[in-house]
Amino acid sequence: MQRFTNPRDLYHGKGALEALKLLKGKRAVICVGGGSMKRFGFLDRAKQYLEEAGMEVALIEGIESDPSVTTVMNGAQKMLEFQPDWIVAIGGGSPIDAAKAMWIKYEYPEITFEEMCKVFGIPELRHKARFVAVSSTSGTATEVTAFSIITDYEKGIKYPIADFQITPDVAIVDPELAETMPKKLVAHTGMDALTHAVEAYVSTAGSDYTDPMALHAMTMIKNDLVDSYNGNMDARDRMHNAQCLAGIAFSSGLLGIVHSMAHKTGAVFQDYGAHIIHGAANAMYLPKVIAFNAKDERAAERYAFIADYLGLGGETRDEKIAALIAFVRSLNDKLNIPHGIKFYGADSYPTEQGFVPEHVFLERLPQIAKEAIGDACTGSNPRQPSQEEMEKLLKCCYYDTEVDF
Ligand SMILES: NC(=O)c1ccc[n+]([C@@H]2O[C@H](COP(=O)([O-])OP(=O)(O)OC[C@H]3O[C@@H](n4cnc5c(N)ncnc54)[C@H](O)[C@@H]3O)[C@@H](O)[C@H]2O)c1
Ligand SMILES: [Zn+2]
Repeated sequence: MQRFTNPRDLYHGKGALEALKLLKGKRAVICVGGGSMKRFGFLDRAKQYLEEAGMEVALIEGIESDPSVTTVMNGAQKMLEFQPDWIVAIGGGSPIDAAKAMWIKYEYPEITFEEMCKVFGIPELRHKARFVAVSSTSGTATEVTAFSIITDYEKGIKYPIADFQITPDVAIVDPELAETMPKKLVAHTGMDALTHAVEAYVSTAGSDYTDPMALHAMTMIKNDLVDSYNGNMDARDRMHNAQCLAGIAFSSGLLGIVHSMAHKTGAVFQDYGAHIIHGAANAMYLPKVIAFNAKDERAAERYAFIADYLGLGGETRDEKIAALIAFVRSLNDKLNIPHGIKFYGADSYPTEQGFVPEHVFLERLPQIAKEAIGDACTGSNPRQPSQEEMEKLLKCCYYDTEVDF
């Protein structure tokens, strides 16, 4: 038996934020990030709509990018004091994911972070509150997904919390919120969305329900991502829907080892001054993983089908897969994303020598590979890598060399 779960309601199109007026309840807490939503007036509007709905409103502000376990625990404490019946998370993947984890802790104050990370092991929520997610970036699609990514900074590792319990009740996909994204964010979140669609399409957990979403998302991303990056706001608006479709696909169809590696490399070099931003990591690793997974028959067929579907050319199956890899790499070039960790600057742009020194990467490689194999996303990857293969694959992702194994 498989399951296909989505929010009960999804409001989309310009002005969809107003759907907050339709909520019924007594108290709503709004969870937001570092300031962009406030700066552009969306936080005030959200607060006003909730007040119009007759609710008392409290704010949990300042949720950082790649939110920490501490942020989650502190936010849950505030929720316990305020007793909201609606949790409204507005912003990018970071505040929404943090709010999801706070929600679990609010409903079950005794639960530990380790217990939360047990895949599909979250106890039943909604005894205290329901959840609205309003996305302001066009990438993570966390407004529709069963996932939340929280970083344990002591270990430098991102942990996915995965359970349909945390699929929001209401998703609001209002493209106006995404129009204020800076270019770099458009690039990274857009490549994150493409990776979601491609991984969901070849995942062993994909289905007839998730395939159409994944394929249509890919078509839209091919048509609109680069234009959106270059400032075309109609394309930007469509990308907001495209990323959400990709999210619907992967929330039930799951992901693969591009994400496993991105989760385990994201924060592990922070002592050298930067993070490898989630979407950029995916963008660099996706071509390598396509080559690796293509040794699996079913995955190879599916990659070739994507190439046909997107009109990328190629006669034989191998040529089509090569065309897909070349397509992803050409997107990276157009979006100013490097092709390997070695060339990833602290500012995320391509550079001769990136912020992760070779000897540090090699020193940490065995542990990163082990962690990546153990990541929740590895189980649904079409090909299960051994420790040795994962290390080799990560090396290709560092040096930008060909995957021939
Ligand atoms: N839950 C999931 O299913 C899922 C999937 C993929 C990634 N993630 C996680 O989500 C996080 C990344 O989320 P993200 O890429 O959406 O970025 P983010 O939420 O970390 O935001 C990045 C920055 O962009 C700013 N910002 C957000 N929206 C803006 C807007 N409209 N205009 C101007 N600035 C804006 C924020 O203030 C912040 O400074 C990572 O922790 C990643 O691991 C979660
Ligand atoms: Zn992602």
